[in-house]
Amino acid sequence: MQQTQSAPLATRLAHIEPFHVMALLTRARALEAAGRSVVHMEIGEPDFPTAEPVVAAGIEALRSGHTQYTPAAGLPELREAIAGHYRTRYGVAVPADRIIVTPGASGALLLGIALLVDPGAEALLPDPGYPCNRHFVAALNGVPRLLPVGPDSGYQITPQRLAAEWTPETALAMVGSPSNPTGTLAREGDVRALAAGAGARGGALLVDEIYHGLEYGTRAMTAAGMGDNVFVVNSFSKYFGMTGWRLGWLVVPPGYESDAEKLAQNLFIAAATISQHAALACFTDAAEAIFEERRRAFEARLEFLANALVELGFEIPGRPQGAFYLYSDCSRLTGDSFAFAERLLEEAGVAATPGLDFGDHRAAEHIRFAYTNSLENLREGVERMRSFLASR
Ligand SMILES: Cc1ncc(COP(=O)(O)O)c(C=O)c1O
Repeated sequence: MQQTQSAPLATRLAHIEPFHVMALLTRARALEAAGRSVVHMEIGEPDFPTAEPVVAAGIEALRSGHTQYTPAAGLPELREAIAGHYRTRYGVAVPADRIIVTPGASGALLLGIALLVDPGAEALLPDPGYPCNRHFVAALNGVPRLLPVGPDSGYQITPQRLAAEWTPETALAMVGSPSNPTGTLAREGDVRALAAGAGARGGALLVDEIYHGLEYGTRAMTAAGMGDNVFVVNSFSKYFGMTGWRLGWLVVPPGYESDAEKLAQNLFIAAATISQHAALACFTDAAEAIFEERRRAFEARLEFLANALVELGFEIPGRPQGAFYLYSDCSRLTGDSFAFAERLLEEAGVAATPGLDFGDHRAAEHIRFAYTNSLENLREGVERMRSFLASR
């Protein structure tokens, strides 16, 4: 028999990095398997299980035989329910036919970027920012251009910055609000100006609102409806607590509906049917009460952990107002946050995500703590860090 040779890997793979925190997570699991206790502050998903009314709706969907494909853009009732959500939460009219239901925000980001970025075209992204964005752009043969941002602009790209950095090759600017990893919000006026700035240059703005609902002391305004070049990503993963159900959506501006649907058909066929039926229950009073209770729990954790980290010597300059992350400047404690994260895990039994996962800009001086863990466990984590820092 003839021997087969391995096929060469596509060159785009050279531009895709793994999540560095995965190596830490694997090590954390190994330590736990060996009997060590680890306080997890690296995990980017709610620690709560999916709310009971949503689980019940999922089970009911299975029992009723809802196990075949839905239309590519999603169940009509769910698209209507999401449109209703924009009306009641933000007072914004978003017609259901502009809402494309996708496999998570991940599917919505891929779809949005595929709609807008040609091979060789640039996308402007904040650094630090959600790591997959630059990889989605690279996977589609676009060019991610990372713009260093800091606390002075709430870790967001400002309209002035957009104007200065936009080139003839630029097709898209991306915003995350609240941001992962910083938890900071983009100001409403800035988002409008970013949309206008991109629009004036013939480009688009894509706003990732996946952490909407998880806001503390403020209310984020949606960018949906802020312009005919504005695309909005959202998800059932975070506020609605459905990470494993893989369900999100993309809001497209008028005129893009059929192209978005055509691409969604080809990329995904449809999002998971059972998940879509389950998600209908997210918009009930019973589920909403649970989500709000959880939001308040996150807020209490934020309050505790932000103060405790500052007391330990971290700095958290851009006051986070959403999501469940504290992107902490650790430059007073270390110049190498990756090595620091490794030592925290090995010596203190605390897992956190080094800045390296979110870009290049001052990455070695930052570490992200997620408060996706109980207050009790966060307290334990803080005490472990206190002893570790005192003993160095
Ligand atoms: C900013 C941001 N966008 C998108 C995603 C993808 O979420 P999902 O595909 O679970 O909806 C995440 C996940 O952590 C995220 O942090």
